[in-house]
Amino acid sequence: MMKTFKLEQGPIGIFDSGYGGLTILEDIRKGLPQYSYIYLGDNARAPYGTRSFEVVYEFTLQAVKKLFELGCPLVILACNTASAKALRSIQQHDLPLIAPQRRVLGVIRPTAESIGKLTITRHVGILATAGTIHSESYPLEIQKLYPDIHVSGTACPLWVPLVENGEADSDGSDYFVKKYINELLSQDHEIDTIILGCTHYPLLMRKIRQYTPSHIRLIAQGEHVTNSLKNYLSRHPEIETMCRREGTCNFFTTESVEKFQESASVFLNEEINVKNITLK
Ligand code: DGL
Repeated sequence: MMKTFKLEQGPIGIFDSGYGGLTILEDIRKGLPQYSYIYLGDNARAPYGTRSFEVVYEFTLQAVKKLFELGCPLVILACNTASAKALRSIQQHDLPLIAPQRRVLGVIRPTAESIGKLTITRHVGILATAGTIHSESYPLEIQKLYPDIHVSGTACPLWVPLVENGEADSDGSDYFVKKYINELLSQDHEIDTIILGCTHYPLLMRKIRQYTPSHIRLIAQGEHVTNSLKNYLSRHPEIETMCRREGTCNFFTTESVEKFQESASVFLNEEINVKNITLK
């Protein structure tokens, strides 16, 4: 029998394939510290970026159901790959069947909305996983809102593995950071704004900044997702009142707790409470 989830008060769920969503969680917690949060990283199965549509959808749906089981009335897919490949199907197909009163939101739309105010040349670049680039989600969303903006994209398949393996600041990462930035800029010399369209990439920010010409603005998503969430909660009191307000944050990973604790504490600069979880 299909399991269904009734609306109940609980923490906001933040999901990513691995550590990348922590960059979004941090900004959301700064902007909305009153709420309680659960972070779920599917580190054992990351990266998602090179996986097929079907697999990303299946893994993301498993994670959303787990977060519902843990009581979340609202889940943010803090992963562009999952937002590009699974969000629409989950919203349109699964939610009406399993949890019609709960909500799942992504990170692509809020980022696309903010870009119109940021580019002056109206030429924008996207750096993202192969999955996100091939889905064409960014050009589609941006052109719906701003038909005058020209969008180019480059897939950076090696950046997430560098971050997941703790190599973001190593000397070896320079080659691949430079390579993908140059590939993007050689497509369009008028780009003045680059979206880091993968939540892992802010963890490479120091090197990305180093190899990007200084007149080009780099956009990380946390701030834009946070503003969009604030706006969403103010427009949806039926969801907002279901978001628990205890200011707590608990972490779940499909990998080893020790490994997650060690890596995540470096990104977050704090001791965290982590539990292991199985997704199926
Ligand atoms: N942070 C995810 C994203 O925003 C990562 C992707 C992956 O696992 O490849 O796309």
